[in-house]
Amino acid sequence: ETAEQHAAFEARIAGGEKIEPGDWMPAEYRRQLIRMISQHAHSEVVGMLPEGEWISRAPSLRRKLILMAKVQDEAGHGQYLYHAAETLGATREEMVDALLSGKAKYSSIFNYPTQSWADVGMIGWLVDGAAIKNQTMLAGCSYGPYSRAMVRICSEETFHHKQGKEMIVQYAAGTPEQRALAQDALTRWWWPSVMMLGPHDKDSTNSGVMSNWGIKTKSNDQVRQEYLNEHVPELLELGLTLPDADLHQDADGNWIHGPINWDEFWDVVKGKTGLNKERLATRNAAHDDGAWVREAMLAYGNRLRAQAAD
Ligand code: 3HC
Repeated sequence: ETAEQHAAFEARIAGGEKIEPGDWMPAEYRRQLIRMISQHAHSEVVGMLPEGEWISRAPSLRRKLILMAKVQDEAGHGQYLYHAAETLGATREEMVDALLSGKAKYSSIFNYPTQSWADVGMIGWLVDGAAIKNQTMLAGCSYGPYSRAMVRICSEETFHHKQGKEMIVQYAAGTPEQRALAQDALTRWWWPSVMMLGPHDKDSTNSGVMSNWGIKTKSNDQVRQEYLNEHVPELLELGLTLPDADLHQDADGNWIHGPINWDEFWDVVKGKTGLNKERLATRNAAHDDGAWVREAMLAYGNRLRAQAAD
């Protein structure tokens, strides 16, 4: 990699140009994008598990149909993102192996248990709400395929978010039991959703190069601030209590959270606590159960190639 190549690349980024798959790019730019996009894809696929286990227990056909559509969308987001990573030279096998072996990360948020039906609504409100803030930021990413994937994914996430919010608003205004379910779900999901947006900027090991090259157009803390400023007032409006005694508004109107328990975050990410082992066991079992499909497709493809060669 020559200084001229880097200078030309930096000029393109500074000029707001989109970098496309066939363009020259620093190896580190490529590596960072494969890391981030593949882990994003893993998050979508693992993210199907917490909510998927409530599809068979939905309280009505309408709720069941909505949840099925949402979980199906997450699978599609995963496919979309694996394809975006493949445009950088990563192979599907490498990425899937990295997830199944525990080498790759996926979002901490999906290692928390879904303990009641109201969790489905709260995940839609908080987790998809946080994901929308993060993914709207990434829609401005300098890598063309990723930024375009974000535009499509954000529009579907908006539906995910609205259906969750509608459910929680209904429960918060419903019977005392429904209200208690909504409050219990908020108490358990609030901090994990605040943490899912990543470590504080000072501890964010990748953010420097990510923002220099326009992959991240806002920092973790900036996206977190946007998330708090939008959702804290709405949750308070419902009369729900946020599990953060230090939460307050500063003179500029920003909602300031209390100290984040980063030990919990890293224990969950590393699988010391939470459901990381269970999530990986489920993914490995699904992969093994699906081996016959891959073998059949390979055999069929080989037969077609042999026939074409005759
Ligand atoms: N869970 C697990 N690991 C996390 C994490 C989280 N919430 N936040 C950060 N990390 C990891 C990073 O991967 C990095 O480790 P690595 O170098 O081994 O990959 C380390 O912690 C340091 O963090 P950084 O801030 O330096 O990492 P990034 O610059 O990658 O920023 C991020 C973290 C903001 C999550 C960024 O990776 C990102 O924007 N990723 C794309 C979006 C995404 O993955 N969202 C996850 C949720 S998907 C979802 O919600 C689906 C929706 O439909 C519900």
